[in-house]
Amino acid sequence: MRKLWGGAFSEGSDELVERFGQSIETDLRFWEEDVLGSIAHATMLGRTGIVSEADSALLADGLGRILREGPDGLPRDAEDVHTAVEARLSELVGEVAGKLHTARSRNDQVATDARLYLRKRYDELAADVKALQRVLLDLARTHREATMPGYTHQQRAQPYTLGFHLMASFWAFQRHGNRLDHARALANYSPLGAAAVAGTGFPIDRVATAEALGFAGPMPNALDATSDRSWALDGLHVCALIMLELSRMCQELVLWSGNEFGFVSLSDRVTTGSSIMPQKRNPDMAELIRGRAARAVGNYVTLATTMKGLPLGYNRDTQDDKPCLFESLDLTRDSMRLTALMLETATWRTDAMRRATKRDFSTATDLADFLAAQGTPFRTAHETVGKIARACRERGIGLEDLNVATLREIDPTVPEEALSVLRPTQSALSRNSQGGPGRRAMAAQIKRARALLARKGFRDPV
Ligand code: ARG
Repeated sequence: MRKLWGGAFSEGSDELVERFGQSIETDLRFWEEDVLGSIAHATMLGRTGIVSEADSALLADGLGRILREGPDGLPRDAEDVHTAVEARLSELVGEVAGKLHTARSRNDQVATDARLYLRKRYDELAADVKALQRVLLDLARTHREATMPGYTHQQRAQPYTLGFHLMASFWAFQRHGNRLDHARALANYSPLGAAAVAGTGFPIDRVATAEALGFAGPMPNALDATSDRSWALDGLHVCALIMLELSRMCQELVLWSGNEFGFVSLSDRVTTGSSIMPQKRNPDMAELIRGRAARAVGNYVTLATTMKGLPLGYNRDTQDDKPCLFESLDLTRDSMRLTALMLETATWRTDAMRRATKRDFSTATDLADFLAAQGTPFRTAHETVGKIARACRERGIGLEDLNVATLREIDPTVPEEALSVLRPTQSALSRNSQGGPGRRAMAAQIKRARALLARKGFRDPV
């Protein structure tokens, strides 16, 4: 196996040691960032006179060729991607390749590469969040008057609309987007030039390399720069939160697409059949997302426990930040896209939703509110409505089936205008407190959401 060390060793390492320590299959992912980081470093070495301009140009040319060749040109029998790039460079430019590692270590290099790579992945995730939000918002606008039951404790609580329900997820993703923005900003500082642990005596220019790589600036302390993995934990945390969000949405899709609810039919594109039951259309993707959210949480815990108690300075333990981070990033990206696809291609059974709001007494709160608005203390109104609901149940009718005669029979003190608040659709569409499902409140919410969606980034966290 190709290594970047060995001078002090008289014997080669054991095959098992090489296999156990090798990370190339994982870190090849950021081969491009590794090369770009090296180009910035090589250019800086020339500008500062640490190597000659001619050597610097040779190094940069060779690295440029590696960029054009792509990852397939890199040897796979190397310990890691840094070794592979340097090995390929020496094949291309000869001995001068050995000058590239002046005033640099793999410790600052790996942190630089990974931060650059993560920055790119954050941008992709942010675009996925926007795309999912767009789907949610479009559906919410279409279904803003489609009444459905709202639940607390999984019991029917108050009617609202499908549009209102979907907008709840829109805002959750606004926060996730904001978290991504924040995590990106925190990761966007350059460890390059920190060297192994304590900087270097060479007159390097860390501002120049940071600028060349688009970082906001160099990290102020070399020890911190090589020890810190909070950027990876931030990434894992945001991924875990997004996956938790998606798992909840997917659980609803699983429930709602079943016969008991029948609120939605998922399209053929996203469902699977059963090998034995021909009638089945299973929401497997929603179940997999729900299940794999566990992996995202696990990955966060894996790295958090790796970092716990780790002394400052580079420790090889942190090589394993990458498998969990990459898995979470991939999983989160796919899951967001799949969820958007499931939502976008679904058929929403709004009739079934509306039917489900019938005779479920979910407008009882509206009736109590009506009485309270007329001056009855809310507690008394609550009691009165409880009695009316019981009387309706005894008669086998719902609240919305009450007519003037029956109401009078049950409770003559309740004015007949109260009957007007008992229809679920009207109940949902008239709850206009800010953030409510009412027509006016939803129009305001949608307007604000549209404006935020059109903006770059997620600066308004809400
Ligand atoms: N593959 C290593 C990692 O990912 C690179 C840094 C190696 N540094 C060292 N001192 N062995 O962490």
